[in-house]
Amino acid sequence: MCSPEHFAVEYAINPWMDVTASVDPELSVKQWDRLRETLVGLGHEVHLLAPEPGLPDMVYAANGAFTVDGTVYGARFKHPQRTAEAAVHRAFYESRGWRFIAPNETNEGEGDFAYLPEAHGGLVLAGYGFRTELPAHAEAQEALGRPVVSLHLVDPRFYHLDVALASIDDGNIAYYPGAFSAASQRVLAQLFPDAVVADDDDALSFGLNLVSDGANVVLNNEATRLAGRLKAAGYTPVPVELAELKKGGGSVKCCVAELRP
Ligand code: ARG
Repeated sequence: MCSPEHFAVEYAINPWMDVTASVDPELSVKQWDRLRETLVGLGHEVHLLAPEPGLPDMVYAANGAFTVDGTVYGARFKHPQRTAEAAVHRAFYESRGWRFIAPNETNEGEGDFAYLPEAHGGLVLAGYGFRTELPAHAEAQEALGRPVVSLHLVDPRFYHLDVALASIDDGNIAYYPGAFSAASQRVLAQLFPDAVVADDDDALSFGLNLVSDGANVVLNNEATRLAGRLKAAGYTPVPVELAELKKGGGSVKCCVAELRP
């Protein structure tokens, strides 16, 4: 995770960002800190990246890389405003001995890649349409040695996979079908017949931008119906408030890069 000390909405690279809206820096840090404490309270270890001035989106740490079984497929950001973030993530992994594979193709890390170790023997789900480019999916497959299923995102409000789909345990997902092309919806229904499906309101309140450890699902507090559905499916929803960071177009999952050693 990376503290939103320098978080601001200084440019607009997704439909949620409004440069005229005011952001409360102290409140962003406070809400983010509650998220960090929540994860630690659930028994997870959280590593921190040092935030850098001039990189206001660094708080969305999920975009900096994608890891599977000790291998890191690095990010290459679409927008120049975020390009410099990739090197910070790379340094984090390289200084800790991870096997790092530098990308040639545009991709935004866990923003557009999800991993399900127990689905079909270990499956990567990958989004394209707005940020990550399709050739990056093939590059990720070669880097990670796992099958990559390409999913077409078609609604600009769901510009990253991780705002429309999340792994809720090692083999299952929650998702919002409306974010995907009709063909990709069929693919998801075929691969995940038992998925938890979110409605428009829960998806638009970033409910799917969640982090799950397979039992506890940390998600935006506004996604109340999704929380109910997760509960009915046997998970424990853990709501958190992240209203300030929503102004940048992200929530829980965007703030967390998961480490898969
Ligand atoms: N403002 C950031 C951007 O548009 C938000 C990134 C959200 N992160 C995520 N994993 N979806 O790039």
